[in-house]
Amino acid sequence: MTKLNLSPEDLGMLAGKNGQAAQLAMSVIVKMAEIECADSLINITRAHIDSSIYTGDASLQFAEKLAGMGATVRVPSTLNVSSIDEFGWEQWNVPSSYAGKAKRQMEAYLQMGCSPVWTCAPYQNNGRPELGEPIAWSESNAVVFANSVIGARTARFPGFLDICVAITGRAPHSGLYLTENRAAQMHINLDLVPMALQRSEAFFPILGYWMGKACQDMIPVLDHLKVQPDEDQLKAFGAAAASSGGVAMFHIVGITPEAPSLEAALQGKAAAREHRLTEEEIMDAYTQLNTTSDQRLDVVFMGCPHFSVEEFEQLAEFTAGRTCHPDVLFLVTTSRKVRAEIERLGILAKMQAFGVKITQDTCILISPILSKQQKVMMTSSGKCAYYAPGQLQVGVHFGSVSECVNSAVHGLVHKENFTWKN
Ligand code: F3S
Repeated sequence: MTKLNLSPEDLGMLAGKNGQAAQLAMSVIVKMAEIECADSLINITRAHIDSSIYTGDASLQFAEKLAGMGATVRVPSTLNVSSIDEFGWEQWNVPSSYAGKAKRQMEAYLQMGCSPVWTCAPYQNNGRPELGEPIAWSESNAVVFANSVIGARTARFPGFLDICVAITGRAPHSGLYLTENRAAQMHINLDLVPMALQRSEAFFPILGYWMGKACQDMIPVLDHLKVQPDEDQLKAFGAAAASSGGVAMFHIVGITPEAPSLEAALQGKAAAREHRLTEEEIMDAYTQLNTTSDQRLDVVFMGCPHFSVEEFEQLAEFTAGRTCHPDVLFLVTTSRKVRAEIERLGILAKMQAFGVKITQDTCILISPILSKQQKVMMTSSGKCAYYAPGQLQVGVHFGSVSECVNSAVHGLVHKENFTWKN
């Protein structure tokens, strides 16, 4: 068994020299480091905290206990979504007792010095981490984006451990903090996937969903991608892969920073697995994301992960001059920062003219927003399409943003029928 070497400062924290909260946090980190066979702890520069989500009395008690012990974060720490939109939860099906507890939990994390960005897409905020920077992010889509697209280094921290790392500024030196553990393990060749399919609006979330299932927790490298994905496409891709599987990092040759070539992504080694992806596998993945045949829609949902300004701009183009069907709830989730920005740009008013409702700082899969009568959902999010049947007990239609808008206008599912097959 690897011996864990703690610095004098770590040992001081463990002995209670920095207070009771830091002592508790360090004792949790030491346990995790031993489980992971880490030989030491490292300094992290910043944290993103998922423990902010109210999931019941235990999560609230944990937060209030830490805050009551005088816990404060040692590094700049941002907050993931809350379980409520504190400025509009009354519009939805959120019970007031639930909202009260969720609000108390939010306050406990603010008391510890965390920053109230309330978003699952912290990379959409200013001041991103840099290439190679050791950070401690939780929320699976943020983790995969940080490791893959930014090239920062983070483990896939679970809730509760993330705040312990933020309080101490220390994390087990293992996993993706180590260069050798960032090499690709599975080589996915896209040379058989036609350009028309790669260009189609819904390609990246479907590819991400397929990849998560195929890779589980391996690190994939994709090559022969013929298109240049933008950050929102990479966001949707990584989020889906980190949901259907445990993908914490991916490489795309010529696109992600640690993959200037296939050899570089593999760090000169042979891939443990090789796969040549076919069009049929993508079609099959697409079929799996659709879980109902009921064509009458109750909800159209977007913003998992939180919508960016650019995604709102695109949505505004699709919705211009049109009106959402009165029986359909068209819901988008985003952060308070992005909402303020689209209001400033005049996009919010356009959204509202179409009938879009926006919730900020929260998540449809966590907050009890929908009613039990809302049974059929359409979404452009691969992550939401994957989780919603189980978590919200809804049937899901997966489609592109334009298909979602067309369907919302008609109140019925309206798809373009695999237009990439031309
Ligand atoms: Fe964000 Fe909730 Fe989706 S936290 S990534 S909107 S599941």
